[in-house]
Amino acid sequence: MNSFALKNVNHIYGSGSAQVHALHDVNFAAEAGTLSLVMGPSGSGKSTFLAIAGGLLTPTSGTVEVNGVSYTERSKKDRDALRLDSIGFVLQKYHLLPFLTVADQFELVDRVKPQGNLDKDALNDVLTTLGIKDLLHKYPDELSGGQQQRVAIARALYPNPTIILADEPTSALDSPRVAVVGGLLKDLAIKHNKAVVVVTHDTRLIDAADHLYEIKDGYLSKKANPSA
Ligand SMILES: Nc1ncnc2c1ncn2[C@@H]1O[C@H](COP(=O)(O)OP(=O)(O)OP(=O)(O)O)[C@@H](O)[C@H]1O
Ligand SMILES: [Mg+2]
Repeated sequence: MNSFALKNVNHIYGSGSAQVHALHDVNFAAEAGTLSLVMGPSGSGKSTFLAIAGGLLTPTSGTVEVNGVSYTERSKKDRDALRLDSIGFVLQKYHLLPFLTVADQFELVDRVKPQGNLDKDALNDVLTTLGIKDLLHKYPDELSGGQQQRVAIARALYPNPTIILADEPTSALDSPRVAVVGGLLKDLAIKHNKAVVVVTHDTRLIDAADHLYEIKDGYLSKKANPSA
């Protein structure tokens, strides 16, 4: 079972008059084998939602369950292991390490998590699909924004996570690349039975989605089936 759920999640940043109620009673579930798209404008709560879903941020109230067990019921060790082994993040800021070449970004993953990562052929396929195979010897500041974004996507997929959480993974890409990334994420969901959740304001990704949600001012609602 590769699934997770948010139940009655609220999140408030700050205190007193500076409070921002970023998420309001959010309920959400994602299953293996599906790609869910959460669409919303800037400031609507997308990154907050994703950080809470992945256990990077603890909600002010409500629970988040991964494979039926909430983060709060897990020990810190268990939570860390879950994040390392099961959850792949594509973060809004790409978080590539500036002093490492693209190849070394992957090697670093091997050091932190020596087992269970994609084998050479599978990684090669991902690099080829994303069109970044020739960039392995380059440093992040020698890459364009779109190239950095595609390297960050490949790095998130490399540990072969069962849950993939992506924050605006196509913001720096042109339309043909958006279609490639949408197709890749959809393949991961369907062929590799992963639960994929993408938050974005990029309507070009709608075609790839199985489930479509809208988030507005911190309120999440389900939209009609995108393929219907
Ligand atoms: N660390 C923080 N401290 C205080 N307020 C915050 C913090 N992070 C986000 N917010 C506020 O919470 C709300 C939701 O922010 P969030 O980053 O989740 O939006 P978003 O939909 O990801 O926006 P964008 O599309 O610009 O990335 C916004 O009003 C934002 O200003
Ligand atoms: Mg954001």
